Amino acid sequence: MKTITIRNKVNKTIYSNIIKRICFKHDEEKVHNFFLNIGKIMESNLLSKNFIKMIFNYQDKILEQDLFGIKFRNPVGLSAGFDKNAELISIMEDIGFGFVEVGSITAKPCKGNKGKRLLRIPEKNSIWVNLGLNNNGSDEISLRLKEKEFKIPFGISVAKTNCEETTITNEGIKDYIYTLKKFNNIGDYFTINISCPNAYGGQPFSDPKVYSLLLKEIKILEIKKPIFIKLSPDLDKDTINKILNISQEYGIKGFICSNLTKKDINFDKGGLSGKELSNKSDLILSHVYKQTRKWKNKPILIGVGGIFSPEDVYRKIALGANLVQLITGMIFNGPGIIGEINFGLSKLLRTNGFSNIEQAVGSAYSNNGGNKNEKIEIKH
Ligand SMILES: Cc1cc2nc3c(=O)[nH]c(=O)nc-3n(C[C@H](O)[C@H](O)[C@H](O)COP(=O)(O)O)c2cc1C
Repeated sequence: MKTITIRNKVNKTIYSNIIKRICFKHDEEKVHNFFLNIGKIMESNLLSKNFIKMIFNYQDKILEQDLFGIKFRNPVGLSAGFDKNAELISIMEDIGFGFVEVGSITAKPCKGNKGKRLLRIPEKNSIWVNLGLNNNGSDEISLRLKEKEFKIPFGISVAKTNCEETTITNEGIKDYIYTLKKFNNIGDYFTINISCPNAYGGQPFSDPKVYSLLLKEIKILEIKKPIFIKLSPDLDKDTINKILNISQEYGIKGFICSNLTKKDINFDKGGLSGKELSNKSDLILSHVYKQTRKWKNKPILIGVGGIFSPEDVYRKIALGANLVQLITGMIFNGPGIIGEINFGLSKLLRTNGFSNIEQAVGSAYSNNGGNKNEKIEIKH
């Protein structure tokens, strides 16, 4: 245990004092592409893969759970948007993630928005994102993934191509359906991204009526894999409730809470991740959890937004998340954050009287005398 603590501290020190200082002086997208290439080189041979495992990976039985028939070795996943073209699943497994969500992938290849489209905001531990769903498109990505097998589960995040044409409802639906068909036999679950804050025409599929039309068409495909919906943190409660009701009707298996926020930010386009999103994503997670407790088949909830520490994950689990995802925490604290979170979370679960992570899901309410308002006390 002591060795892991020292290892994690060394990782953190090297990242924050050397790597981060260099990276944060350079353009965000250039750094991202540089690390994509490093990742691809690292995952191409066994020696570097084992080295990465040794310096970053941490697993513990207390974190394991079976959800929708799939084994998750830990609850921490890579959120959609980091590995848009599904090139890094294997190295993310070595770093220690429990699962990876690739994409968002669109029917057609897409270069994304023009101009500056990523900005770090270090004083807020956030990133401004206006990428606009840049990805190689479903033909290329599905062809490349077809024969591949991975040791951890991975999900396919599906969005509609970022262009004027797909703002027409029928065209938008066709676009989603094309990608869903392409990936029908690839990956462990689908996420339908209806909440991209930086695509042409906004988020038309977050309108319950339009959303309902989309689910009607998806139902015809008779997809066997679980389908999740990624929600915007900026929706009002009434709209969320309508989306939840429609989702229940169509057998949606889970919700991701949440995508980037657009509301009350100092930018006229794009959205914010990280700490600026933390509270908003917690609120929607808690709302969705409470609203869906009466469902016969309770949905899986994935908590995303501003995770930087084991305490952040513990809080989201207590609020009702079965799994969590992150990106910004890894950019600000380095890839060592995954091992650090899993190590810290295992300890927190034990100290707070849980013998498995599943027992902690929704504990903010059950430890609260049935009171519907959440109460989270974390013993260290
Ligand atoms: C650079 C970047 C690109 C993203 N691209 C996508 C995307 O393509 N699809 C999607 O559903 N979410 C995307 N997101 C949102 C993240 O998946 C996540 O919901 C959000 O960043 C909150 O998590 P975080 O605070 O840990 O970063 C992106 C986020 C970032 C930072």
